[in-house]
Amino acid sequence: MTRELSLADIFQIGYYWETKILLTAVKLDLFSALKGESLTVNEVANTLNLNPRALELVMNALVAMRVLTKEDKLYANTPVAERHLVQSGSDYVGHLLLLHDAEWSHWGQLEQTVRTGQSPVTQHVFETNPELGAHVLTVLDRIGRGSGQGLAERIPLHGAKRLLDIGGGAGTNAIAFCLEHPGLSATVFDLPQTLKVTKQRVESVGLEDRIHLQGGNFHVDTFEGPYDIALMSDILHYQDGRANAALVEKVHGCLSEGGRLIIKDRFLDPSKTSPAWTTAFAVHIMVNTECGECFTIQESRQWMEQAGFRMVEELEPRAMIQGTK
Ligand SMILES: C[S@@+](CC[C@H](N)C(=O)[O-])C[C@H]1O[C@@H](n2cnc3c(N)ncnc32)[C@H](O)[C@@H]1O
Repeated sequence: MTRELSLADIFQIGYYWETKILLTAVKLDLFSALKGESLTVNEVANTLNLNPRALELVMNALVAMRVLTKEDKLYANTPVAERHLVQSGSDYVGHLLLLHDAEWSHWGQLEQTVRTGQSPVTQHVFETNPELGAHVLTVLDRIGRGSGQGLAERIPLHGAKRLLDIGGGAGTNAIAFCLEHPGLSATVFDLPQTLKVTKQRVESVGLEDRIHLQGGNFHVDTFEGPYDIALMSDILHYQDGRANAALVEKVHGCLSEGGRLIIKDRFLDPSKTSPAWTTAFAVHIMVNTECGECFTIQESRQWMEQAGFRMVEELEPRAMIQGTK
């Protein structure tokens, strides 16, 4: 049973100060300036060309937040900041936080969005800032190391030879499937600007002979085919239900007889009030896409059945659904 919410919890939720302090420090690249060193405020301010008085307040708060340490007048990164927030490090995750910082002004318009129903944006990050989008995919790929492989291990291919990965991003899943199944070839369909990072990833694992990249807009362009298996992983929320229904129908058209569509996403429960992370993610999507949403498994099932898929089944609760042509 969940604990009843206290007043302290309400304040904890309502105070976003620490969030913005951290995001700003990442944006200013403060942690890279402190890489491997203990420095005074003035030294950091000089390096980054910042105001020392303002910087000191921010750095003191970061000490209290346990992201920095301070001894006498010298500040240093804590081990976690040194490992994950210094740009040159191989475990840098700052791009994810930079994305949140870039979307800060959209969140600032939430009140207006709720009043009018209008999102403050007309495009999502992969369209407005593909470089940042690609960096985010790379970080997600790294921190979710093994997620693609886990998926490839869990989904039996039943002899499928051609995979279409729609909105396949950095190619995480297509690569994992091809590594797991030597007889498989794949097409990653994504926006041309995103495919630049996919190309590098595919080449880095030597799969360019088996993974074909097709640039385009999945709402507009046609898929080649026929494919034996199609994957839509974490792409539903960039558009509304009508667009998703149309996309599922288009995928149905490019599958071979007996071919399967697998949709993997962060689905909401039928009540749409859980899981908690996804309910907040739905609001995030509302203010950061033109008309995106989060959906339930039942809605996906409906799109599949309307498109003519049969044997529609939930492969994993709240996470994955499959239909057969
Ligand atoms: C959250 S990422 C998911 C990537 C990948 N499927 C995965 O599970 O790791 C969403 C992807 O959808 C792509 N995308 C969004 N809108 C698109 C569109 N209209 N046409 C093609 N790709 C699109 C983005 O470029 C991005 O790579």
